[in-house]
Amino acid sequence: MSILFEPINIAGMEIPNRFVRSATHDGFSTVDGQITDESVEFLADLAKGEVGLIIVGFAYVTPTGQAVPDQNAIYDDRFIDGMKRVTEAVHRYDSKVVLQIGDSGSQSAVGRQKGIQTLAPSGTKKEWVSFEGTKEIIHTEKGTPEYKAHTTPMEALEMTEEQIQQVIEAYALAARRVRAAGFDGVQFHGGHGYLISEFASPAANRRSDEWGGPLENRMRFILSCYEAVRDSVGQDYPVMIKMGAEDQIKDGLPLPEGVQMAKRLAQVGMDAIEVSEGVEQEAAHHIRTGVDTREKEAYYLDSAREVRKEVKIPLFLVGGLRSFDIMERVVEEGVADCVALCRPFIREPHLVERFREGDQEPAKCVSCNGCLENLQKGRLTCIFND
Ligand SMILES: Cc1cc2nc3c(=O)[nH]c(=O)nc-3n(C[C@H](O)[C@H](O)[C@H](O)COP(=O)(O)O)c2cc1C
Ligand code: SF4
Repeated sequence: MSILFEPINIAGMEIPNRFVRSATHDGFSTVDGQITDESVEFLADLAKGEVGLIIVGFAYVTPTGQAVPDQNAIYDDRFIDGMKRVTEAVHRYDSKVVLQIGDSGSQSAVGRQKGIQTLAPSGTKKEWVSFEGTKEIIHTEKGTPEYKAHTTPMEALEMTEEQIQQVIEAYALAARRVRAAGFDGVQFHGGHGYLISEFASPAANRRSDEWGGPLENRMRFILSCYEAVRDSVGQDYPVMIKMGAEDQIKDGLPLPEGVQMAKRLAQVGMDAIEVSEGVEQEAAHHIRTGVDTREKEAYYLDSAREVRKEVKIPLFLVGGLRSFDIMERVVEEGVADCVALCRPFIREPHLVERFREGDQEPAKCVSCNGCLENLQKGRLTCIFND
């Protein structure tokens, strides 16, 4: 049997195989962040398709931190019941299910549209975004709307000490709700230019107080969030992070610092780390197109190798994994313990089942990002399945 079908135990969470559905915002929630029947069916279908661990798309922990329309929310107890429907539906199968939680920092486009001031480690003054339905409209300084298909950093104010403490507290309360809703664990969204990665980034975080400057200060935010979450959920609950190991921006977080951060997170008790990228120059750089050769697959493999040298806790590798044997090698060689996929499961929700039954042709996803365009129009579907 392939190592990909061996179970793994992460802090008491027994995952039946090594396939993780990386967190995927699906746009199925209501405008105020409540789970719908469509969300439940979409996630249960992945469990039916034998995905070992399903990470549900990022839910915002503060109203200030909402990135996109129809995004899952977890900033209030009223979201627990909807989330319970997800965990109950997934738990009818063998899969485990985790909720990713986050605050979008300077990319909190919807919060901004609702008239909530966007907050970030350091102030930014660029463009702002509003939505017509789910279509993003970027307003330039001249006030002329431009139609673009990505989220752009907007004008944001530097967070005060009090606001920083409020977000840390919001993470703790959110994680308690995650546990109450029956999830098997919680994952911080610590990448992609959102708040945690902005704090870690020397380019995005230009503070001169104890939250900025040397790496020790820049990682204080995630370490404080971790401590608060751990106190809130207890020692016996899996707490994980998808982290930007490296920024893709001038003067951003360099990989050696990302490795040091991962090492520290493991030391303080983080149960698993998914390796991704941090602050990016182009929006959605982490969702790379043109993964059309074997050489272009596993685009964070080198980052993960560096993290692995210093970190012994379970690692997940995400980013352009398509071929069964490449995934198998990643796990066999010990670079990562699990493989995490997003787009391949949009095209083929039952991909794991197909692999297990012996059809090990690569995932059919061609990394065209047509699904992102469909999502902008309101529905997350693969253009080849429409
Ligand atoms: C539609 C869509 C929604 C996404 N939503 C999230 C999200 O909520 N949280 C997150 O960490 N990454 C999100 N991502 C990024 C993916 O989890 C993944 O890191 C990236 O797509 C690379 O993996 P892949 O090549 O297997 O798609 C999203 C990607 C797509 C295409
Ligand atoms: S539209 Fe389909 S093939 Fe293209 S990236 Fe999305 S899931 Fe893959």
